[in-house]
Amino acid sequence: MPTSKGSSGKFIAGMAVASLAGVTLLIGIIYVGIYRKKAQKVVPHISAFADQSHPSGQGLLGIAVEKSVEFSYKELAESTNGFSISNKIGEGGFGAIYYAELRDKITAIKQMKRQAKTEFLTELQILTRVHHLNLVCLIGYCVERYLFLVYEYIDNGNLSQHLRGRDTLPWSTRVQIALDSARGLEYIHEHSVPVCIHRDIKSANILINKNFHAKVGDFGLTKLVENGNSTLPTRFMGTFGYMAPEYGRSGIISPKVDVYAFGVVLYELISSKEAVVKEDGVDDARSLVALFEEAHNHPNPIEGISRLIDPKLGDNYPFDSVHKMAQLAKACTEKDHQMRPTMRSVVVALMACSSSTED
Ligand SMILES: Nc1ncnc2c1ncn2[C@@H]1O[C@H](COP(=O)(O)OP(=O)(O)O)[C@@H](O)[C@H]1O
Ligand SMILES: [Mg+2]
Repeated sequence: MPTSKGSSGKFIAGMAVASLAGVTLLIGIIYVGIYRKKAQKVVPHISAFADQSHPSGQGLLGIAVEKSVEFSYKELAESTNGFSISNKIGEGGFGAIYYAELRDKITAIKQMKRQAKTEFLTELQILTRVHHLNLVCLIGYCVERYLFLVYEYIDNGNLSQHLRGRDTLPWSTRVQIALDSARGLEYIHEHSVPVCIHRDIKSANILINKNFHAKVGDFGLTKLVENGNSTLPTRFMGTFGYMAPEYGRSGIISPKVDVYAFGVVLYELISSKEAVVKEDGVDDARSLVALFEEAHNHPNPIEGISRLIDPKLGDNYPFDSVHKMAQLAKACTEKDHQMRPTMRSVVVALMACSSSTED
């Protein structure tokens, strides 16, 4: 009977296809399981294979980050009241920062456009490998729709706001902030392999907590360099007024570009002036470094420097400590990068400033 023969043939064929499909599926599941385990083991810190062809609104493919939590877009949106303006606490070159209460933790969320992928991945990579009391701490990330970084919330703004704000920072606090941020920078220069060069040290990237301790933040422009002492030409980035001359001129990079920018921050701490100063009645803006150089070269340098000390401090500062800090800032902003001290020496010098403040 051709009909029944035909249907049993079809039945047997169907069974064969079904069992073959089942076996293939099983092998597939086992393979994916093994591969995933292996992949998790092999990836040391982060491997990111951003899939640009992927439609926006969906995650980047293949991101695996150790010791960092992956959040969903929904979770982040809920914790920021839909990224409401009242939750916004900052705006930088690469995105907006929101205050968020997330999984019972107070956090700050940086939202970046997908075009800022390089900066996002750099910051993610650096902050998952370096941990220090004086560096901002990363909690997690999200790659749905936008790119997000989730940090511990630092509750007292940034140094630039404090220096230009209504309340005066006492001298001892300024020394403390200098020492904290110097320690954070020393850590990334001296204790990380390869060496990290921050490349965007400035007062707006130094975060302050409620006890007026400081943490260095914003690692989006950080560069990893195999041999810390070598110099190599690179893409030109950073902020005007903080940029070391050799870097601005020829893109040469070494940890000494951070030392230079840190010297500018020290001058800011002394004077509360911005890195680029617009003087009354003068058309051109001048760098704070140029202003202090003039003071150092004054026939009476003590008088020259005294004129630049933040008037809001009144007489409430030990001149010896301020003078030491001004000398240190001068050394940090030397034109010849090889003449600048290392961050380790800067920390030691600031400890001396700190003890002469206590005296
Ligand atoms: N963890 C944080 N806690 C509190 N405020 C923060 C935090 N991170 C950043 N901010 C605020 O947002 C501003 C911009 O952050 P930043 O990381 O420098 O971003 P960008 O790369 O856009 O410059 C900072 O100057 C600071 O005022
Ligand atoms: Mg910034």
